[in-house]
Amino acid sequence: SWTMAAYREQAIAAIRAQVGDQKVICGLSGGVDSSVAAVLIHEAIGDQLTCIFVDHGLLRKNEADEVVSMFRHQYNIPLVHVDASKEFIGELEGVVEPEAKRKIIGRLFIETFEKEAMKIGGVKFLAQGTLYPDVIESVSFTGGPSVTIKSHHNVGGLPARMNMELVEPLRELFKDEVRKLGRELGLPEHFVGRHPFPGPGLAIRLPGGVTREKLDILRQADAIYLEEIRKAGLYDTIWQAFAVLLPVQTVGVMGDGRTYESVCALRAVTSVDGMTADFFPFDMNVLGRTATRIINEVKGINRVVYDVTSKPPGTIEWE
Ligand code: XMP
Repeated sequence: SWTMAAYREQAIAAIRAQVGDQKVICGLSGGVDSSVAAVLIHEAIGDQLTCIFVDHGLLRKNEADEVVSMFRHQYNIPLVHVDASKEFIGELEGVVEPEAKRKIIGRLFIETFEKEAMKIGGVKFLAQGTLYPDVIESVSFTGGPSVTIKSHHNVGGLPARMNMELVEPLRELFKDEVRKLGRELGLPEHFVGRHPFPGPGLAIRLPGGVTREKLDILRQADAIYLEEIRKAGLYDTIWQAFAVLLPVQTVGVMGDGRTYESVCALRAVTSVDGMTADFFPFDMNVLGRTATRIINEVKGINRVVYDVTSKPPGTIEWE
């Protein structure tokens, strides 16, 4: 019968056969897919693999540190950590249109990654954590109008530029299978079970434009929200949950003072594959507790609303 242990062995043999004694580089995003791919490849070829983590400064709270310390200390995988947040946030400043944000992030990501890859030198193979749904989604739908709703840049951009052969050991797997494989490889449960996170990160959760200050506010609100969801035992039931910081200010009252601060929207959905989704029907007490905490603990937010839009007609992300 088909098990993850067997898949692991088979994948390791295939990676060894493909790359021989050549060097491989792998882009880490901080997420589950690229991490599982990297750990698997490292198991197959050891230090022939170097990981490059382009940190765009748009990750959730603590995420960058967690990934770096897991790779360096737990797995001893050679890792180049590039803090490119200054460049990314600098170029995003004043950009409001969602696709324009994606383009900037995609381009900077490729440029930064390429620069680091050149420094390593003599690399023939590029590893990616491409999943089966990424493979399908990048092929246009048949029977429907060919409209790009959002240009995900996980698939395509990098290999086209780099003239390297691809190593994609997760190409046949769905998200839940990648999580199983991650557990099989000994990745910590809280890491493997993480909700999906978009490549452009928090940039597409800041309608109205990205600034360091807004990122900071959003990160704090998001962390409180996820903490309350975990406390309520709902994290694994929900496909994806996150906060969005709106470019709207409203009036509030705190103590005996008037406040005029930003609105935070909370989103949570259930889904099988992200293609369709239902808003999550929270117990209002969970939302109430979260709202109280966010407003009390995060300076800059004085109102919290909950998004009850399903997909379609809404998308999961706001941008
Ligand atoms: P939407 O918002 O299109 O999201 O309903 C479906 C899933 O895709 C993620 N998403 C992205 N992932 N690059 C990514 O890597 C992107 O540009 C992007 N936009 C959305 C979203 O988080 C959800 O899981």
